[in-house]
Amino acid sequence: MLSQKMADRLNHQINLEMYSSHLYLQMSCWCAYQSLDGCATFLSQHATEEMGHMHRLLQYLQETGALAILGGMEAPPTEFGSLIELFEKVYQHELVVTSKINDLVHLATTEPDYSTLQFLQWYVAEQHQEEFLFKGILDKIKLIGVEGQGMFLIDRELEKIAMTNGKEATSMTGTAAV
Ligand code: FEO
Repeated sequence: MLSQKMADRLNHQINLEMYSSHLYLQMSCWCAYQSLDGCATFLSQHATEEMGHMHRLLQYLQETGALAILGGMEAPPTEFGSLIELFEKVYQHELVVTSKINDLVHLATTEPDYSTLQFLQWYVAEQHQEEFLFKGILDKIKLIGVEGQGMFLIDRELEKIAMTNGKEATSMTGTAAV
């Protein structure tokens, strides 16, 4: 059984993952609007992954007899100055998610709540891969640049990552699992 504090924090995380999904889907729409179809596919796919994270948290709350609560959500931004700005926002958002996961692990350790601590291990590992993936993409975009053919190349590389169905991102980021 979860403490009320832990249930509240996990519910907060559920809503953060839902927002992550909305944010990336909106970013995907922006990319599609800019005819960046590879980036749009990649971000849409990642939005689905974020919903997967949300469902995993939700299921854990239900397994422990707690009530999962879906709250309201602010609308994600719809305008991005450039592709670099967009992926900067993705990376910064992922850092926020990481810090919230760290808070959860800290709470599970100090309560102590070993069941939740065990459950959170997948999340810690997954988030490490997400940070690695998005940092790699951002670094490569900065390196290639978004002028002229650079944009085309980046879009093609993101499409390649998406085509692996989220299993591996080798072309731009080394060997990060998505
Ligand atoms: Fe579910 Fe990208 O954090």
